[in-house]
Amino acid sequence: MSKKLFIETLGCAMNSRDSEHMIAALREKEGYETTDDLKSADLILINTCSVREKPVAKLFSELGVFNKKRKEGAKIGVCGCTASHLGEEIIKKAPYVSFVLGARNVSKITEVLHKDRAVEVDINYDESEFAFDEFRTSPYKAYINISIGCDKSCTYCIVPKTRGDEISIPTELILREAKRAADGGAKELFLLGQNVNNYGRRFSGEHEKVNFTELLRRLSKIEGIERIRFTSPHPFHMDDEFIEEFAKNPKICKSMHMPLQSGSSKVLSDMKRGYTKEWFLNRVEKLRSVSPDVSISTDIIVAFPGESDEDFEDTLDVMRKVRFDQIFSFKYSPRPETEAEHYTNVVDEDVASQRLTTLQNLHTEILDEKNKTHLGKIYRVYFEDLNQDYYVSGRSDNNIVIKVKGSDELLGEFRDVKITQIGRTILSGEVVG
Ligand code: SAH
Ligand code: SF4
Ligand code: F3S
Repeated sequence: MSKKLFIETLGCAMNSRDSEHMIAALREKEGYETTDDLKSADLILINTCSVREKPVAKLFSELGVFNKKRKEGAKIGVCGCTASHLGEEIIKKAPYVSFVLGARNVSKITEVLHKDRAVEVDINYDESEFAFDEFRTSPYKAYINISIGCDKSCTYCIVPKTRGDEISIPTELILREAKRAADGGAKELFLLGQNVNNYGRRFSGEHEKVNFTELLRRLSKIEGIERIRFTSPHPFHMDDEFIEEFAKNPKICKSMHMPLQSGSSKVLSDMKRGYTKEWFLNRVEKLRSVSPDVSISTDIIVAFPGESDEDFEDTLDVMRKVRFDQIFSFKYSPRPETEAEHYTNVVDEDVASQRLTTLQNLHTEILDEKNKTHLGKIYRVYFEDLNQDYYVSGRSDNNIVIKVKGSDELLGEFRDVKITQIGRTILSGEVVG
């Protein structure tokens, strides 16, 4: 009988892909199968996120629950970004944890499994040449890491401390992985990295220097691949060449994530983001001039230390000008080992909450107005998920989530869908072709 693995994945898409890599290694080398039933698991893994304080605080209470519920002899491993930044401390606080495995060290999962209290958290460890075993949660959409780590030093962000320096994965490995996914039936690729459009600046060995635009060109030639998405591009690296390739390459989905963080040039400078409000707006203008139907999503942090009412007003101003299609917004959360951790000009908690609400309310208004314009329109949808009540959902090229009544026969298929009903996050429609 196979051994059972229960894995909980928090954080971003890179963590999800790391979990897939660990599942693959544990299946191939150790004979594990995944389970949703914690109590029957022989191995419990939690792949953690450290980007904000709250999930980190919750880790130990969650570990306590795992410890109580696990079957006798089951091992518990803590992986991911909080593993990288807390290391040993996790085992000190929770001695029943069998091993701690950092975000940069996932390839060592089968090694640490057999050691007692192993802590592998070296952020200089280089996995860029490592070809992982194959496992994908979805056969329709293939997530592929194109770089690891991050070379920026945004003053609020812990990621460079948990994932280390940025290294691009060799182009031939990415192409091979993409071809394998296409052969397995995936029609969509989702490229992952903290700064995808900085791809090619640094490889760990001797490799052909390929930049992100060229990587996109090569991937789009793979037979069977019809759509390519990616996250996150950095506004600083959005040069004209990249934007023009984005617009003219029909395989690249017309949906761009442009993480703004703040609309105030002063706050952006304090955050060390490397661009100004004007540069950001200029890039949006350029993008829309060559790709008029593009949808734009963003990340925003409110109440960064020193953010005044005027600074926040600049963020609202960018929001009104750009009218983002989707936002991920957060209150600033001080993180250890970051520059901003030591800033003393903190924004009052009530003001921070108020700003977050104001921002989110403004976005809801924008979204409601935008959504009305979709009614009656026809979108080409790639179906990926089977939901309850016989609904199948997928995304339009420009990233609108659309559901129709249907069965699993639609999964992995493209159809034209006419929008018949508007919801805030999901639109409903009927297949017309
Ligand atoms: N590399 C990506 C971001 C990865 S982290 C980029 O540069 O855009 C994902 C998001 O978490 C960030 O875009 C930011 O909005 C948010 N974030 C990061 N650190 C944070 C902090 N200390 N407090 C609040 N939000 C934070
Ligand atoms: Fe963090 Fe900035 Fe790197 Fe993004 S670019 S991961 S926000 S340091
Ligand atoms: Fe979280 Fe690490 Fe991703 S901190 S957002 S899991 S890079």
